Amino acid sequence: MNVIVVAAECAPWSKTGGLGDVAGALPKALARRGHRVMVVAPRYRNYAEPHDTGVRKCYKVNGQVCGCYIICSLTSRTRYMFNFIVSMLFAVQDMEVIYFQAYIDGVDFVFIDNSLFHHHENNIYGGDRLEILKRMVLFCKAAVEVPWHVPCGGVCYGDGNLVFIANDWHTALLPVYLKAYYRDNGLMKFARSVLVIHNIAHQGRGPVGDFFHIDLPDYYMDLFKLHDPIGGDHFNIFAAGLKTADRVVTVSHGYAWELKTSEGGWGLHEIINQNHWKFQGIVNGIDTKEWNPEFDVQLRSDGYTNYSLATLQTGKPQCKAALQQELGLPVRDNVPILAFIGRLDHQKGVDLIAEAIPWIVGQDVQLVMLGTGRPDLEDMLRRFESQYHDKVRGWVGFSVKMAHRITAGADILLMPSRFEPCGLNQLYAMMYGTIPVVHAVGGLRDTVIQFDPYKESGYGWTFDRAEAHKLKDALGNCLNTYWNYKESWRGLQIRGMMQDLSWDNAAQRYEEVLVAAKYQW
Ligand code: GLC
Repeated sequence: MNVIVVAAECAPWSKTGGLGDVAGALPKALARRGHRVMVVAPRYRNYAEPHDTGVRKCYKVNGQVCGCYIICSLTSRTRYMFNFIVSMLFAVQDMEVIYFQAYIDGVDFVFIDNSLFHHHENNIYGGDRLEILKRMVLFCKAAVEVPWHVPCGGVCYGDGNLVFIANDWHTALLPVYLKAYYRDNGLMKFARSVLVIHNIAHQGRGPVGDFFHIDLPDYYMDLFKLHDPIGGDHFNIFAAGLKTADRVVTVSHGYAWELKTSEGGWGLHEIINQNHWKFQGIVNGIDTKEWNPEFDVQLRSDGYTNYSLATLQTGKPQCKAALQQELGLPVRDNVPILAFIGRLDHQKGVDLIAEAIPWIVGQDVQLVMLGTGRPDLEDMLRRFESQYHDKVRGWVGFSVKMAHRITAGADILLMPSRFEPCGLNQLYAMMYGTIPVVHAVGGLRDTVIQFDPYKESGYGWTFDRAEAHKLKDALGNCLNTYWNYKESWRGLQIRGMMQDLSWDNAAQRYEEVLVAAKYQW
């Protein structure tokens, strides 16, 4: 099959979270299964590998509009009459994009270049609402035409066997453009689309007037309109994508269930329930080449070492000592290192760790936190580090190297996320013999089975409410096992490391979805 994965970020070129990892790894796993796969992402910077294909195309992007908000509140018939006037108020720009391309590990990576993507190089989702919308419109318009314009390996993809996999709201316009301009008009009659939900909290919401920026026929407006009991009618890109895509996937079974509830669906649960026949959860895999303690390149210097199941007992303590050394913490083998790696925001529950910190530092433990995000939480990390200098390190920043080293050197990974569609850090941790303590939600509930001391089964500790005292209870039990039940601890590490968390299983599930989408009428 011909598969085109379209995402706003793609590791290693761009990544703010798990979406980037998925866009970098799932395509390779699909290619290993014999599919012809392309990834399309924006070109935020001057990347090294991809070369200029010489292909340039222009797409219309609507600029600022004044007055459309009044028009939206009119009835549809009157709105129709006013549409002409509205379009006169737009500053319609023709924007040229340049297609770059690289062929790596059996996958064609295509990058779409335009100055719109360069403005916020360090924060790819930066800018105001309309600026972001404009970027996503241009990206989706250019991405949907990639199979025609970019002859990867000398051959165009053609539409016969073509399925797009769009990801999150940023690319949820793609299924809509595909339907409005290509399928219904017969240009790509046989192309189908799958939309993957990585995080429903971001939906591409705005006032109803935003519809005039996305360049679709008027009768598409209702697809985007959503009624909110508090805010009233608003414009919602994710809603339109979910209704239009031929199949919808989310990144775990737990999250699939949560999305159908009013608490977990963030206003989109009704749409998901109405479309449940085309909706399913598939737990993400991980890139076992990049996240494997045996081959991890970040463990090859500064006193760290590669290790495997066979060398766990010597390799992991060496990494721990190297981490303590690198961070300037007391080098002690018998003190458990707790780690938190992630975005510093409400979702990740970092404030629960903050609430539990007096208790945590009262134990004989060390705590290492790595992340960027909300300025107040970044300050909090710095404050903890200076306040508890012999026990806590707060590394504000995004460092791939440190993420690997902390995962290897730490004993316990804390993930108290309030919601977590899948979560990848707990999977990475288990591969490195690091025991996860997690809030049992979304993908965390799917992947971290609670330790059972009677059966000696499970992979870590879970707690059932995002509250600091629940985190303390679970962590307390975990520490007790670390200190007093060495054999059980080793069993936990071994079971975690022996799992097959590769993308191969997930890719097979995606393949089934792609086939179902392909035969969708
Ligand atoms: C989002 C979710 C995270 C998931 C990732 C990849 O970042 O918040 O839970 O693992 O996407 O699907």
